[in-house]
Amino acid sequence: MSFHVLAVSGSLRAGSSNTGLVRMAQRLAPTDLVISDPYAIADLPYYDGDLDTPEALPEVCARWRTDISAADALLFAAPEYNYGPSAVMKNAFDWASRPFGAHPLIGKPFTVVTSAGGGGGDKVQAWITTIPAMLGAVVLNEPVIAIKKGATLIAADGTTTDPEIEELVAARLANLLAHLRNP
Ligand code: FNR
Repeated sequence: MSFHVLAVSGSLRAGSSNTGLVRMAQRLAPTDLVISDPYAIADLPYYDGDLDTPEALPEVCARWRTDISAADALLFAAPEYNYGPSAVMKNAFDWASRPFGAHPLIGKPFTVVTSAGGGGGDKVQAWITTIPAMLGAVVLNEPVIAIKKGATLIAADGTTTDPEIEELVAARLANLLAHLRNP
């Protein structure tokens, strides 16, 4: 049985190392784990409660929620912007976190990697593991992957000059698959 992982890159930059981490995960995924292309979260409008009604909900927002529901797991690759998540990623979270108490993150296996500056994204790593867990997702974060100065190491096509990063990503994917097979 294969499992479908919906992947998100929190950076819109063409040369993004976080997009590169998603591409690396696609390349290294074990058989039975299918990682999607980076989801087009930039197509989501800014969260607006007036749009979040059955009558007004934009189709792209409804689809984002149903695509999360349909996925077996989520993979978020996050840059750190000013000690937190990028605006586009936070916005995607906000849309995903409603309706209150009945949103698609509840119970969803959720795995996160970060590529950032000199700290590797330690602050955003704390945010992006804590907040999904508070929202009810099942956070799987071993081994921790927080790549320091990732943009100098990982190309957007998923290649890297550091084989240790590939080993970490492969280990994380193996752990994720083991969890999905035996929750
Ligand atoms: C950054 N960067 C950054 N890095 C970090 O470790 N801590 C931080 O607080 C910030 N703040 C920050 C703010 C803004 C506005 C930018 C543009 C950048 C650096 C950033 O995380 C790094 O360049 C990543 O490599 C960006 O991810 P991509 O684009 O390579 O995926």
